[in-house]
Amino acid sequence: MQIIDGKATAKAIKEEIRQEVDSIVSAGHRPPHLAAILVGHDGGSETYVAYKIKDCEEVGFRSSLVRFEEDVEEQVLLNKIKELNNDEELDGFIVQLPLPGHIDEPKVIETINPQKDVDGFHPENVGRTVIGLPSFVSATPYGIVELLKRYQIETSGKNCVIVGRSNIVGRPLSILMSQKSINATVTVAHSRTKNLEELCASADILIAALGSPGFIKKEMVKEGAVVIDVGTTRVPSTETKSGFRLKGDVIYDEVAPRCSFITPVPGGVGPMTRVSLLNNTLRAAKNNISG
Ligand code: GUN
Repeated sequence: MQIIDGKATAKAIKEEIRQEVDSIVSAGHRPPHLAAILVGHDGGSETYVAYKIKDCEEVGFRSSLVRFEEDVEEQVLLNKIKELNNDEELDGFIVQLPLPGHIDEPKVIETINPQKDVDGFHPENVGRTVIGLPSFVSATPYGIVELLKRYQIETSGKNCVIVGRSNIVGRPLSILMSQKSINATVTVAHSRTKNLEELCASADILIAALGSPGFIKKEMVKEGAVVIDVGTTRVPSTETKSGFRLKGDVIYDEVAPRCSFITPVPGGVGPMTRVSLLNNTLRAAKNNISG
């Protein structure tokens, strides 16, 4: 069994990005610039955005944080997005989700200029991904595919079962895994799937992305399978400074001995998600430079 070290892989990719930033700046261009819009003070969102800003600093990007209070009017948020769409000093931006209930999330996403949509959430980017055109792909699926490539994991003709059909992870990942460069045979499982246990146990590559801590048990995993754990549920902990720790969707201790490869939580998919946002921002910056 080999542990897929997302932390080390992300570190190596960050170094590659940092070198590209150096060449961009040496050529006389400004560094890539990412902005994040954060609405309200949700603990998880605050943490994720703080990481995004820190990641930018580490690779030499500029970053900006735009904050609104929880009760911001939808129109005020939409106006800010339109302003960022037209800001030539900015390559890409994200609106941290979830948004408060009074704001129409799909409307917000559709207002983002697809060329600055480094989250890859805009329907234009999702549609382009589906038909294999160049696009921004959302960070978690992008990061998982990069991990499979860097660990040279055989995907062609393999049975890939993805548990979870979210717009951010399961669904776009199913599209990527079935593309010609990857060639897996993909099944997307969800809450209404029948015989889920047997289905998971038939997977050569099992991707758990349902956000239910400890859902995947050893009976659901075939001997020699590749297991990718996307779960990052924050659970209270007395052992960490933050008061939380991250729990995956897979019972790691009992599942790992059965696997050929497995991602841990933390240190697996999470760091790759973070670095993928940097990759998308670098691409947006290079697109702007080349016009
Ligand atoms: N909330 C949880 N994950 C994400 C993400 O990747 N991007 C944004 N914008 N919000 C999120």
